[in-house]
Amino acid sequence: MTTVAVIFGASGGIGSAMRTHLESHGGYDRVLALHRKSTPPLDLLDEGKIQACAEEVRKAGGELRLLFDATGALTLGTARPEKSLRELDPEVLARSFAINAIGPALLMKHFLPLLPKEGRSVFATLSARVGSIGDNGLGGWYAYRAAKAALNQLVRTASIEVARKNPEAICVALHPGTVRTPLTESFTKTGLDVQEPVVAAERLVDVLTSLKPADTGGFFDQRGKPIPW
Ligand SMILES: NC(=O)c1ccc[n+]([C@@H]2O[C@H](COP(=O)([O-])OP(=O)(O)OC[C@H]3O[C@@H](n4cnc5c(N)ncnc54)[C@H](OP(=O)(O)O)[C@@H]3O)[C@@H](O)[C@H]2O)c1
Repeated sequence: MTTVAVIFGASGGIGSAMRTHLESHGGYDRVLALHRKSTPPLDLLDEGKIQACAEEVRKAGGELRLLFDATGALTLGTARPEKSLRELDPEVLARSFAINAIGPALLMKHFLPLLPKEGRSVFATLSARVGSIGDNGLGGWYAYRAAKAALNQLVRTASIEVARKNPEAICVALHPGTVRTPLTESFTKTGLDVQEPVVAAERLVDVLTSLKPADTGGFFDQRGKPIPW
């Protein structure tokens, strides 16, 4: 049977590097790249489009063995991440939740039922270390941090439901490290360990390959090390 990997947000810095890496080294027969300009288009703010993408993937057939979500947003329009409570804007908070938490939750709603009922399969979504509550020693970035923390809880909850149907299915949140992409271009100050997307993709694929069913529901960095919630 043909094995299939799907990348959501394949137009982004990490998503496009993942696409290239999985097409040449992933071991999947087919890699489907979905993004806002793909056919069909994937827009996280439009559940109808997410559902239509899931239907196309189902109709295309094959065994879905990897769902990799590389969507997300840090700067929303002109709104930069907040440094202080004074800067909180309810619309920006809601938009960050819509893109960073609710969108991936809808991907899980429509795509996780397509995973095979038997054998190993992986759903991974790119969260961020700054979404860790235990690791938050710096403050700031309220909307992004809170939305990623919500994403982590959504993944954990879905992993429990999915394991009841297939104990070999794995659902995780991953931190990719700091990666040179449009998302980080205003934030990569000197001294930071910034990886090129191609390096991040190699590391993330290594993590995906090493994950075991017992890891489901977890939150891991780009070297496979667990991150505190
Ligand atoms: N880069 C880092 O250092 C870093 C660190 C920690 C976590 N992350 C996480 O890694 C993920 C990928 O980041 P990146 O650095 O690759 O960012 P990026 O280059 O800005 O890519 C973001 C992706 O999300 C997509 N997207 C945004 N809004 C969307 C929407 N409404 N519907 C569908 N797709 C949408 C973008 O699509 P368009 O191309 O259509 O805009 C793009 O494909 C994000 O979740 C980010 O939080 C990144």
